[in-house]
Amino acid sequence: MGVTQLAYIGVNVTDLEAWSDLMTNVFGLAVQTRTDQHSPSYLRVDDHHHRIALQPGKTDGLAYVGWEVASMDELHRIASHLNSIGVKTVAGAAQEADERKVLALYKFRDPDGIPMEISYGPIIDHEPLRYGRPVSGFNAGRLGLGHAVFACADQHKSADFYIKNLGFKISDYIAWDVADAVFMHCNPRHHSLALMNAVYGMKPGDLNHFMIEANSLDDIGRAYDLVLERKIPLILTLGRHTNDLMTSFYVKTPSGFGVEYGFGARLIEDDANWEVRKYHATKLWGHLLALEEPMM
Ligand SMILES: [Fe+2]
Repeated sequence: MGVTQLAYIGVNVTDLEAWSDLMTNVFGLAVQTRTDQHSPSYLRVDDHHHRIALQPGKTDGLAYVGWEVASMDELHRIASHLNSIGVKTVAGAAQEADERKVLALYKFRDPDGIPMEISYGPIIDHEPLRYGRPVSGFNAGRLGLGHAVFACADQHKSADFYIKNLGFKISDYIAWDVADAVFMHCNPRHHSLALMNAVYGMKPGDLNHFMIEANSLDDIGRAYDLVLERKIPLILTLGRHTNDLMTSFYVKTPSGFGVEYGFGARLIEDDANWEVRKYHATKLWGHLLALEEPMM
């Protein structure tokens, strides 16, 4: 029992145009038809109504992260459990459920104050995806949107919170020259959540990056060409990770945190036979630090 996937993220953005351009024209995400000009700008990668909501406004930063659960009973069970251990958990209003395009949700803050949500019953869109540029599509569905990586005051204590209360399992650990991170899964995606110490100018609770996985290496290569051609600020050059074996690169979003665009990560299909390991490097090759300034 626990959460089943990274359902959605919401971001407050001051520059919707730059965000939309990066997400659609470079990464190929599909824009959801906007029915109300006051609603967020929604981005699709699969049959969910959306996976990313961009809310234009005066501030930049993460608005919320949604984790899906499999039943209404489980939604209420987790919410009441969180309340019982002193984590104030509030039912989302009807208008919030409507905005997230889910049947129901609860909101709470994690140990670092990160605005988290659990949700049930995503609204499905049966229309074919109209990708922002020609791409082969995205690896989401049962694996969820992708993954999110946060800076924490005490990443191992925070990991305990997610394991004990939301049902995450440890995938592996990486401790490298500057940082120490713990990777966790809630479905076969190698990690849907990772927590690290606050380095590179980050504060506890900051979103380091979120990841979107494309269906082909050519999607990654073509997007990389576009990033270089348009001089979009690279954080990490093209490379391959040691733990999930993903081939990816990272760029800075217009809101300051990173986005990883990747392909080909391995899955954890069989928990009983998964060996939790500790690595001492994040990369097999590439992933050179390309940014001259700290990220945030
Ligand atoms: Fe990542």
